[in-house]
Amino acid sequence: MKKFLMVCSLLTAVAFAGSGVAFAGPEKDPMKPRVPKSDRGTAKKMKSPFGKLEDAPADIVAEGKKIFEGKGTCVNCHGKDGDGQGPAGKVLNPGPRDFTNCKFHKRRKDGELFWIVKNGSPGTGMVSMIPATITEEDGWKVLAYERSFCKK
Ligand code: HEC
Repeated sequence: MKKFLMVCSLLTAVAFAGSGVAFAGPEKDPMKPRVPKSDRGTAKKMKSPFGKLEDAPADIVAEGKKIFEGKGTCVNCHGKDGDGQGPAGKVLNPGPRDFTNCKFHKRRKDGELFWIVKNGSPGTGMVSMIPATITEEDGWKVLAYERSFCKK
């Protein structure tokens, strides 16, 4: 089942490539919010079960890394270094988020990131990952790892 889902996310990327986009599209302005206005207020208030993501304990971040590179399939698009240069990410337009960008992290509340992992970013290759691919708890853990790509 996990393999199947992994193939599905890759196929999503390939479908985008097939639609005429043959090279890595530029990242859409990461400073602009992604959660639709109707849900943004509620999304901003959502909190992880282990406090602020940027202060998450090392063992949670380590579990998040496993999910990012494993069953979450995030690595395929966001890249091993979190810079948006994953093999499937290269064919997407807009391109995947570059998680090494600290300004981006500062701009987003934890809950807004979670909303996107749960619902996807409308009109992009970032599709809903919860519950089909990962659980809500996995979602928070993987986001703790994504926050750690910003080295202050
Ligand atoms: C098929 C490719 C693909 C996969 C797999 C993928 N993403 Fe993404 N992701 C994207 C793209 C493309 C964007 C940029 C969307 C946009 O600009 O709105 C993005 C954006 C994001 C964002 C930024 C949302 C924001 O507020 O700007 C987060 C957080 C994110 N992804 C988390 C994840 C996590 C966690 C996983 C794995 C569980 C994952 N992604 C898997 C393609 C992917």
